[in-house]
Amino acid sequence: MDESQTTSPGMGAAPGATGATGAPSALSAPDAPLAVRGDKLVKRFGAVTALDGVSLTLGKGEILGILGDNGAGKSTLVKILTGFHQQTGGTLHIDGQETLLRSVDHARALGIECVYQDLALANSLSIYHNMFLNREIVRRGPFRLLDHKQMRERAAQCLDDIGVHVPSVDLPVERLSGGQRQAIAVARAVHSNAKILLLDEPLAAMGAREAGLIIDLVMRLKEKGGLSIIMIMHNYAQTLDIADRIMLMQRGRVTYEQKSALTSVAELMDIVRREYRAMRANPTH
Ligand SMILES: Nc1ncnc2c1ncn2[C@@H]1O[C@H](COP(=O)(O)OP(=O)(O)OP(=O)(O)O)[C@@H](O)[C@H]1O
Ligand SMILES: [Mg+2]
Repeated sequence: MDESQTTSPGMGAAPGATGATGAPSALSAPDAPLAVRGDKLVKRFGAVTALDGVSLTLGKGEILGILGDNGAGKSTLVKILTGFHQQTGGTLHIDGQETLLRSVDHARALGIECVYQDLALANSLSIYHNMFLNREIVRRGPFRLLDHKQMRERAAQCLDDIGVHVPSVDLPVERLSGGQRQAIAVARAVHSNAKILLLDEPLAAMGAREAGLIIDLVMRLKEKGGLSIIMIMHNYAQTLDIADRIMLMQRGRVTYEQKSALTSVAELMDIVRREYRAMRANPTH
């Protein structure tokens, strides 16, 4: 393959954007102090190299959008950040500290929460119950009875705080739309004091109205402050709207990284198209 095709980010690219080496440059790095820094992350599953030296940064209070083809390694990267997988190589810094995330519980204890695509909600249970799943409030006394009144009130308050409107927190989750369910899952993660929120394709299989609900919610969370967010996305236009920076992954590498304001849908499509053509010309590369 012609190396210039992957190392040069595109005709209209702003100078300083990241090339195929994945090393962030000064211009594409976030302005804020870092919540997350990953250096040269490698993840192998047997003979498959899912991540081939991925470096990333996430500024405090920043929204980073990750784009890329099927199988590019996006979910694997997020699963390393949630402690679900451990990297084969490379290092992670969380809030400035070098950290090897041992498990999902370990990552949670550090304020890292993930909303997976399958959401992990208990559909037959009420909204408020779901918001307190596995961390139910119990009443004082010998019987440790669930404090439904307090959970109801706190769930309603939390949803109200972040502008999620549901008819009643007593409704079972199965009665909600996909967008509302996703909103409840995000609210639950935020409610658990997340500092770093990871969303793996939160808008997948959603219509424009429902996607709008989640985009608005993420924007409100950003305005409230204190939360850094990584979103894996498919739609370039939505990503550029919502994310401060975007990162493009292709075949286990970061091939482009840029502030959203300094790139465009046309430029991103151009990069992907050229990469695709290069791969067709030399599929074994
Ligand atoms: N647990 C696993 N065991 C073996 N291979 C895996 C595992 N998880 C992911 N892979 C492989 O790693 C590569 C990256 O997968 P990953 O799920 O991270 O891609 P992705 O970018 O999230 O794709 P998609 O857009 O389809 O969700 C793929 O080749 C996939 O088959
Ligand atoms: Mg995925």
